[in-house]
Amino acid sequence: MAIAACFAGSAFEALLGGIPSNEEKLRTASLIEGVGANGAGSALVGPGARAPKRAKLTVRVRSSPPDGFSNGAVGSSGRGVGVVSAVVTPSPSASPKSPLRGSPVDGKLHRPLMDGCRTVDRFRKLNRIDEGTYGVVYRARDTETDNIVALKQLKLNAAKSDEGFPIASLREINILTRLDHPHVVKLHEVVMGSSQHHIFMVFEYAEHELKTLLERHDFSVAEVKCLLRQLLEGVEYLHDSWVIHRDLKTSNVLLNNKGVLKVCDFGLARHYGEPSRKYTKTVVTLWYRAPELLLGLRAYTTKVDIWSVGCILAEMFLKRPLFCGKAELHQLSLIYQLTGVPTEETWPGYDSLPNRKSFDFKLSMPTWRMVLPEVGDLSDAGLELLRCMLTCCPSRRATAADAADHPYFDERPLPQDPSLMPSFHETNSVGRAKRCFRSPPPPGGAGLLQE
Ligand SMILES: Nc1ncnc2c1ncn2[C@@H]1O[C@H](COP(=O)(O)OP(=O)(O)OP(=O)(O)O)[C@@H](O)[C@H]1O
Ligand SMILES: [Mg+2]
Repeated sequence: MAIAACFAGSAFEALLGGIPSNEEKLRTASLIEGVGANGAGSALVGPGARAPKRAKLTVRVRSSPPDGFSNGAVGSSGRGVGVVSAVVTPSPSASPKSPLRGSPVDGKLHRPLMDGCRTVDRFRKLNRIDEGTYGVVYRARDTETDNIVALKQLKLNAAKSDEGFPIASLREINILTRLDHPHVVKLHEVVMGSSQHHIFMVFEYAEHELKTLLERHDFSVAEVKCLLRQLLEGVEYLHDSWVIHRDLKTSNVLLNNKGVLKVCDFGLARHYGEPSRKYTKTVVTLWYRAPELLLGLRAYTTKVDIWSVGCILAEMFLKRPLFCGKAELHQLSLIYQLTGVPTEETWPGYDSLPNRKSFDFKLSMPTWRMVLPEVGDLSDAGLELLRCMLTCCPSRRATAADAADHPYFDERPLPQDPSLMPSFHETNSVGRAKRCFRSPPPPGGAGLLQE
């Protein structure tokens, strides 16, 4: 598969799948920089995992539409024909061993990052679905197979700055190439547009985003259980695969017309290991962010994802996000209003968390039933499951496997079978309208280097 040739088994693995140092990430971020205004230009190719050396890439392109996307007729006569050639000339110091730096072929360097990637010409754009922080997502038809796919055009920011190829996209590609599960969106390949500024990820397509469906449909308890169980299975698979998603929210959960749920958007995801090490604490969209992150803990675990799943479960019942904080302090106060303020007894180590002294809260009692009244159809067992996922102390918080095994799923009504989930008018065939509850953007923004 082209993508495997492009991104797997290379220095990307050492750089992104492993434990990258800041220096390594900065070097990768300079993977692709600047192209001449006439379409022909040069790019700096990132070095391998160790030596900060560079090679020069020369790319010739034909003219293309501004977004680098072949809109309408496709094929060799269509606009936006992709890269004609990409040849790397090594800088004197560049070692030919790294796949990123390329290996010598007939005196010239072959650059596997883009060589081997097909062009976007075979896809016909149908509509724009949404624009996120890291990319613009289109619904498109594969003219060779007639399948509908989702194309995410990466935001490279290269035209305006020399930030280079966004590390979030590299990480998303690197992680997704290794994942294969019914509840994780499938990345088919990466294709090139008209220049190295136009890079698209080709995903399996899902007709709906959970957030949009929640605005339009009242899910029954059996349907909520069906969605939650699939979400937990997907998250359990990620954690078993040593991946923390770090941005679970209703807009990053998709549903197809067969009732199958898919987790998407791995822009903030990363591999983790044990024992856990320090990562950046500015991850997860504020409304879905776990208290240990808000309190500055950097040696966090997969439990940050479970907190987000708890927020998603509550949102499915409330039909609005559970905690709509305006800033970190406000977010934490909303959480404590529901859960009660933690103590050393309920959260061992609480008093020594980095931001503990900056956020001082008076002791308060939990208000679970006031925030989530029974009229919301959330039974006592359902509320108990929610409490297991929204436990402030991460080590006492449920794992995905614990949650998926909870007696709530054995209580009537039983989870709906996915094939019997209601079918909805396709919501991704038109662009996103303005939202009642637009969650804040994920932390970082395109190009930010996250650990
Ligand atoms: N495979 C897909 N099928 C259908 N829709 C999709 C697919 N992938 C993404 N989308 C839609 O596009 C939106 C943006 O995609 P994605 O979340 O991957 O981008 P992003 O730039 O990381 O977003 P954000 O910064 O807002 O989280 C998603 O919220 C979802 O609605
Ligand atoms: Mg997203």
